[in-house]
Amino acid sequence: KIIATTLAAATFLPVYAHANCDENETVAKFSHVTASSGHPKGEMAAALAERVNKEMDGQLCIEVYPNSTLYDDDKVMEALILGDVQLAAPDAGKFGAYTQELEVFNLPFLFEGTEAVDVFTKSEEGQEILNSMQGNGISGLAYVYNGMRGFSANKPLIHPSDAEGLKFRVTTSDVTKSMIEELEATPQTLAFKEVYGALQTGVVDGQENTWSNIYSQKFFEVQDGITETNHQFLTYFMVTSNQFLESLDDETREEFLAIVDEVSTEYNNRSNAINEEAKQKIIEAGGTVRELTSEQRQEWVDAMKPVWNQFEDTIGANIIEAAVESNK
Ligand code: LMR
Repeated sequence: KIIATTLAAATFLPVYAHANCDENETVAKFSHVTASSGHPKGEMAAALAERVNKEMDGQLCIEVYPNSTLYDDDKVMEALILGDVQLAAPDAGKFGAYTQELEVFNLPFLFEGTEAVDVFTKSEEGQEILNSMQGNGISGLAYVYNGMRGFSANKPLIHPSDAEGLKFRVTTSDVTKSMIEELEATPQTLAFKEVYGALQTGVVDGQENTWSNIYSQKFFEVQDGITETNHQFLTYFMVTSNQFLESLDDETREEFLAIVDEVSTEYNNRSNAINEEAKQKIIEAGGTVRELTSEQRQEWVDAMKPVWNQFEDTIGANIIEAAVESNK
């Protein structure tokens, strides 16, 4: 009977949790919401765990819980502060409850691509944001890149007017909500794991996301097509709690931070290729991808960019300026 109970309990554990951490090791649980492969964040988290568990064997051990198996993004920060998890990497635009500065990543048509994001995250302003949640007991560890977002819906989207009256799933970002309202459409906040079902049942008409998210979550299967608006660059903010960092001895902390730095840089350099592959897989699987002419894209810019003015004070004009400068 004892064996049966143990087996039943074991089946509830996600397979990814089997990191074989030893009793004497400090365990860091890394909870995130995306797929573990074919995805910049998922692959980065897996690679981080692999390196730490090998190179820091006996000291530190990371267990990765992908696909929202442990927490949604709106719960994970609380779990981090309470010490139930030690690592997380939510979408930078989901930190509104803690810091408004990260909303800069959701201003539509700001970053032109990975290179610009890289210049910004390495700038004085970008580095300062890493410490912007110290007052909440949270330390920023690294920026992790995904890629450009496009729009999908249950009808073709070519002109912004095609989006009028539709309901779009959005993240918890105030900037994104306002951006959808600028299209005269309705934003509906939903957790990532609820999006596929909501699109399938018609609870929402569309969503906006990166190729790797659209492919790995199969959104393209329940949408008419994806329009390559490239309107936002999805960046993650990898965080831990101050309490966890302080609990490590100096040597362990330094070694861990150095590995975080190396692995995040490696995957940030691969994020474009991972997204390009996901785009090709969508096309191969029969999904429709719509490119815009520069005139058509400009219509989307004109429709959504007014949102910048609404958020200049909350994000900070200096932050926005530094981000704009990074495109040069
Ligand atoms: C979303 O909710 O659409 C994304 O933030 C999910 C993710 O982590 O890429």
